[in-house]
Amino acid sequence: MHLLIGCKSYKYALGLMFLSVHETSLPVKSMPLSFVAYALAFFVASWLVSHALLMPKPIPGIPYNFFAQYLPWGDMVSLGIHYFRTGEVFRWLSLQNLHHKSPLVQLFLPSFSTICPTLVLADLPEIDDIVKRRTGELDRADLMHTWFGILAPRGMLGLKTSQSIFREQRRLWGVVLSPSFLDEVAAPCAVRAATELADLWERKAELAGPTHAFEAQDNIKMATLEAMWEMCTGSKFGLLRASIERLEKSCPIKSKKTDEVVFTQAKMPKSYEVLQTLLMCLDWVMLGFSSRLYTWFFTYTGVLGRAVKEKDIVLNHCIDTARQRVMTSKGQRTCALEEIIGRELALSSASEEKSNVENGAALRDELLELLITGHETTASSIAWALKYLTDNPDIQKRLKDSLILAFSTQGCFPLVTAHDIRTTPLPYLEAVIAETLRLSNTGPVSFRQTMASCEILGHHVPAGTPVVLVTAGPSYMSPDMLSTSPDARSATSRAAMSRQVELSSPTRRKADPIIYGLDVFEPERWLLSGSFDPNATHMLPFSAGPRGCFGKKIALLELRFILTILILRFEFPRGSERLSGYEAQDGLTSRPQNCYVSPRAPK
Ligand code: HEM
Repeated sequence: MHLLIGCKSYKYALGLMFLSVHETSLPVKSMPLSFVAYALAFFVASWLVSHALLMPKPIPGIPYNFFAQYLPWGDMVSLGIHYFRTGEVFRWLSLQNLHHKSPLVQLFLPSFSTICPTLVLADLPEIDDIVKRRTGELDRADLMHTWFGILAPRGMLGLKTSQSIFREQRRLWGVVLSPSFLDEVAAPCAVRAATELADLWERKAELAGPTHAFEAQDNIKMATLEAMWEMCTGSKFGLLRASIERLEKSCPIKSKKTDEVVFTQAKMPKSYEVLQTLLMCLDWVMLGFSSRLYTWFFTYTGVLGRAVKEKDIVLNHCIDTARQRVMTSKGQRTCALEEIIGRELALSSASEEKSNVENGAALRDELLELLITGHETTASSIAWALKYLTDNPDIQKRLKDSLILAFSTQGCFPLVTAHDIRTTPLPYLEAVIAETLRLSNTGPVSFRQTMASCEILGHHVPAGTPVVLVTAGPSYMSPDMLSTSPDARSATSRAAMSRQVELSSPTRRKADPIIYGLDVFEPERWLLSGSFDPNATHMLPFSAGPRGCFGKKIALLELRFILTILILRFEFPRGSERLSGYEAQDGLTSRPQNCYVSPRAPK
């Protein structure tokens, strides 16, 4: 929608020029009006010409949309129209590769760069090579700092790999990826959040009745945020509890259509509303036609400043409370903040140096970033998984049977604990999760920028060029349309490709596209003699390398726990066609436009 504001102003400018041409036939008595029209037309024309001259020049040999190079908004007009019509941005990017039948295209996107065209690369082996081995040449794009800098300027997402603060953040927060943290802190938090979500849905299902479905995504997001909040800060956010209590007090159900119910929202804690305001600002800054303009707008109106101030108060309180707990407890750590503060204090007292965590701003920024990146992404993936399982009842049944069998064999069914879910081998669940990540495109692009002039697929690319790496979507589904000559690849890219061929199992590699098309939801493709084979199909849902997803282990853990608990507790019957569909709404992640459920307790 925001992009279209750009389109509208452009059309308005053209309209003024058109008006001025017609004005020439007006009688002399309307001279002043005609003069104004001429002046405006002159102004608009000079602005268009100067803009066209200042537009970035195409990189020779890489396909592009011819007219876009002369337009002030470049390709943004077409992107804006696509977004307005479909709600999708990521898909449009890889449609450009399909349109030009090329794995590498260039676009003119002034909100990405006004100096260079933006490259879009849709070739998995080349992307694999870039993210794993070429960080020196292609690092995190400046754009990410412009976007995330408004909320968390010292958060790792927007930093360059070479910056010392990036390395410091990775070192500090790396503690949340240790097996002991995942086992003792993250897993119980995920179980508690998933159980509360199931309790909420049980009550909602009772109130909704067997014929009605309700929207699921807000509740799933609350569950993943609840889990992240508790594992980071050691306290409860209380979002799902508040929603359950709201249902208990009264049951205000509004029947919108015959097959859908809407529940009145519970009053959420102030800190949740602050987070929502920050996310709204981020969404506009990321998707708007000019991130600078929106940043200026939110800063000028005070919306951003107020929300940032309130956020700082909330997060400072969390940090101070965690510090006090560290001072008084006997080494028992219950959250990431305590782990980090405890370790750093021990280190600084040993070396008599000032602790890194004295710098509350860096801690706050990373905490906020993890809360944001760590809840929306996983929630979108869970929403997609529920859609696929609902629309594929046989797969859902097979998943449930496999879980019951696995836990019964371990002697822990029906009283399954966090430890049981973590340690029991669950290959079919792993296959369902992998297949969901492969098809759903939750985070289908990664942003890079050339640090020095370099070669991409045989093309010389100048320093400072933004490069969007498209790891999923239409280009991934149609790899044959984008075949790349092996000669165009760098030596490391060729090596990455042959390593991938060696990794994937020989029998499966040949049969895969024939038995299971790439656009079909089929967890079987990930199973080899009953075991989960992570290399059955090449995909990069978390990207990879030094800048790959920091929270991959936590995301996989949450997906495992939340899906296990929901599938054991409920059956999810297929919904009406009106409430189904696989259209995406793109923002920070690509999430389903519709995700309705009508959970039933198993008979
Ligand atoms: C299914 C869920 C998730 C998906 C699909 C996903 C995907 C991604 C992708 C594609 C990237 C970009 C990597 C690149 O540019 O090469 C990324 C970065 C990142 N993710 Fe995730 N993510 C998920 C969950 C999480 C969780 C749960 C957390 C936090 C606990 C998290 C934290 C981060 C951070 C901090 C980065 C930036 C890393 C850096 O710049 O070095 N993500 N994620």
